Amino acid sequence: MNKYKVTVIGMGYIGLPTSLALAYGGVDVLGYDLDSKKINTLQSGKTTFKEKGLDELFAGALQNGVKFTSVLNDIANRDVFIISVPTPYDRDDKKIDPSYVVSAFNSVYSVCKEKAIIIIESTISPGTIDRFVRPLVKEKAIHLVHCPERIIPGNMIYELKHNSRTIGCDNEEIGEIVKSIYQSFCDGNIVITSIKVAEMTKVVENTFRDINIAFANELVKICEKAGIDVYEVIRISNMHPRVNILQPGPGVGGHCISVDPWFLVGDYPEEAKLVKQARLINDSMPSYVLKRVKEIANKLGIKEERIGIYGLTYKENVDDVRESPSLQMIEYLESMNKKPFVSYDPWVETAIVPNQTLSFDDFLNKVDLIIVMQNHSHIINAKEKISGKVIFDTKHCLEGLDKLYRY
Ligand SMILES: NC(=O)c1ccc[n+]([C@@H]2O[C@H](COP(=O)([O-])OP(=O)(O)OC[C@H]3O[C@@H](n4cnc5c(N)ncnc54)[C@H](O)[C@@H]3O)[C@@H](O)[C@H]2O)c1
Repeated sequence: MNKYKVTVIGMGYIGLPTSLALAYGGVDVLGYDLDSKKINTLQSGKTTFKEKGLDELFAGALQNGVKFTSVLNDIANRDVFIISVPTPYDRDDKKIDPSYVVSAFNSVYSVCKEKAIIIIESTISPGTIDRFVRPLVKEKAIHLVHCPERIIPGNMIYELKHNSRTIGCDNEEIGEIVKSIYQSFCDGNIVITSIKVAEMTKVVENTFRDINIAFANELVKICEKAGIDVYEVIRISNMHPRVNILQPGPGVGGHCISVDPWFLVGDYPEEAKLVKQARLINDSMPSYVLKRVKEIANKLGIKEERIGIYGLTYKENVDDVRESPSLQMIEYLESMNKKPFVSYDPWVETAIVPNQTLSFDDFLNKVDLIIVMQNHSHIINAKEKISGKVIFDTKHCLEGLDKLYRY
């Protein structure tokens, strides 16, 4: 059993599974969140979002004594803190909005012991710790560490265990302590480096993904103009031993890929030109999909009120809707004073957008043309039910339907 008492700050998509994995691995863990409703749910033995394997991990962690609190004083005597709170970007200047990290750090710092280890696990722009966090450290000495997370929703529990990870710290000794804590659940390679390199690495990883997705999405537009099948072009190009083009889609979303590259654009506007273009290309996809769908609807004489959006999440088989291309499309329609299309997502069980239906049958009754924005297993298994509809499949996930359109 690891001797350090760990508190995880922020019981969200990252903080909760991390707490559970630590507890499951034998670490004394206390989960802390400002949101007392969330804490009450966790204290009552229920998880707060859907994720493959999360309930089982929760059961194991409960057996190992994981606890949750929204009372700040409860966390005072802990040795190590892992801060996992949101890190949005400012929509105007594109720089990181560090306010959540700063506020969480201030809370921890106000109660923690001398020499506590405070790990920022939130994704932050390069230099954030030096610019915004280190100046908050006054007479009480603490150790600052950055340990970004790489897990993907839908496969979080597997990836927590198997991904390699990075620890950014000021000295090797602290790095080794933090490494021993993460090793309680992580079998991957754990690299120790400086804080600045760890900050940059995480943002660079997500930027790499964004740029590669943007290339596939730009090819969609080029191939449309050229009158050729983009999927055939990608399939054949990928036979080249050193080419690996990703699949295009309706855009990107989530709290990572559609956010983190902006940090580089905000801080390095003169240098991050490719990064900015990639962001703009991916953000243009929802309105591009709309253009293609309208062309089909016009050709077939389908009225706008009979067009439906299938899939509100940003990824398949998860319930996370943050920054999703469907939400971007709905916002875009609203910005043009248009009524949002009727929408449905089997993973989103409460209405979050206007004109959303919570029943698939109801959705099918209301639409003649379905824009498939997400390849949930549900739609792939519902082929018979949708076979009479016109489908625009942005995910290339459906086959063998009569009225099937794609890029
Ligand atoms: N979601 C992902 O797939 C993913 C993957 C890798 C990295 N990240 C990064 O992890 C960080 C957290 O993301 P998330 O998706 O878990 O966010 P989230 O919104 O799901 O969770 C954040 C939690 O922090 C709590 N919180 C906010 N301020 C607080 C404070 N001062 N004290 C205590 N609790 C506070 C909120 O109530 C919320 O429960 C972000 O920086 C994100 O970029 C996310």
